[in-house]
Amino acid sequence: MTALLEVDGLAKAYRGVHAVADVSFGVAAGAITGLIGPNGSGKSTTIDCISGFQRPDRGRVTLDGADITGLPPQRIARAGLVRTFQTVRVYDQFDLVANLLVAIEPFRTVGWHDALLRTGRYRAARAAAEARARELLDLVGLTRLAAAPASILSYGQKKLLALAAVLMSKPRLVVLDEPVAGVNPTRINEVAGILRKANEAGVSFLIIEHNVEFITGLCDRVVVFDQGRKLTEGPPAEVHGDPRVLDAYLGIDEHGDHVAEAS
Ligand SMILES: Nc1ncnc2c1ncn2[C@@H]1O[C@H](COP(=O)(O)OP(=O)(O)O)[C@@H](O)[C@H]1O
Ligand SMILES: [Mg+2]
Repeated sequence: MTALLEVDGLAKAYRGVHAVADVSFGVAAGAITGLIGPNGSGKSTTIDCISGFQRPDRGRVTLDGADITGLPPQRIARAGLVRTFQTVRVYDQFDLVANLLVAIEPFRTVGWHDALLRTGRYRAARAAAEARARELLDLVGLTRLAAAPASILSYGQKKLLALAAVLMSKPRLVVLDEPVAGVNPTRINEVAGILRKANEAGVSFLIIEHNVEFITGLCDRVVVFDQGRKLTEGPPAEVHGDPRVLDAYLGIDEHGDHVAEAS
């Protein structure tokens, strides 16, 4: 069985610094897979390479068997892989429905000529997109704010809106960079519930997150990075009890730098 996402021998350096040295892992179709590791271990660089926001130096990324290595983000998104960012990105001045409609502009299947003339084809596509937007606002619990500008949302609510936005195009795989970082602890379970529901509806996830409880409760499998390499992978309970994983986290000082071994 081939995985939905396969990453094979991925490497990326920034001016000679190996952010990602040589990593291989997969995400099975239907799975929620976690990606953990200390600060600076190469998690964000890896998902930047997977989603087309960085071009890998080496390695291969396939989605459902199709080679997507080095393609631009929009091509990868059209192939069914979308992502969110560590820093939340929403359009403050637009209302929530408009935020979601903007999100699928790159996926539009009707031409400018249909849009200009407001043809039946355009109106049907627009109605379908609006219906989808309302369905997703309902999923993330923001229906009552549908017509409000995104500027009034709390940080956690903006993260939920960004999540709804990436789901607009009906992706097969969604990559999330720290979905509950900075989110009020009382709302973290709510986010887990939303992701579970989306997963049951057929979306697979790859999730970078430091919150151990969140990852353990949600993921089937966890991949652990350390210093640009895959340290280990397995079920969350197993991985969190692994002394090598503890070592990787303890070997880091508060600036995210590796502490030199005493000789
Ligand atoms: N755009 C960049 N330019 C230069 N170095 C970078 C860049 N992005 C990341 N790095 C470096 O690559 C390493 C891995 O970073 P990153 O992928 O952000 O790790 P993580 O997401 O696990 O914290 C770090 O040493 C970081 O400083
Ligand atoms: Mg990061």
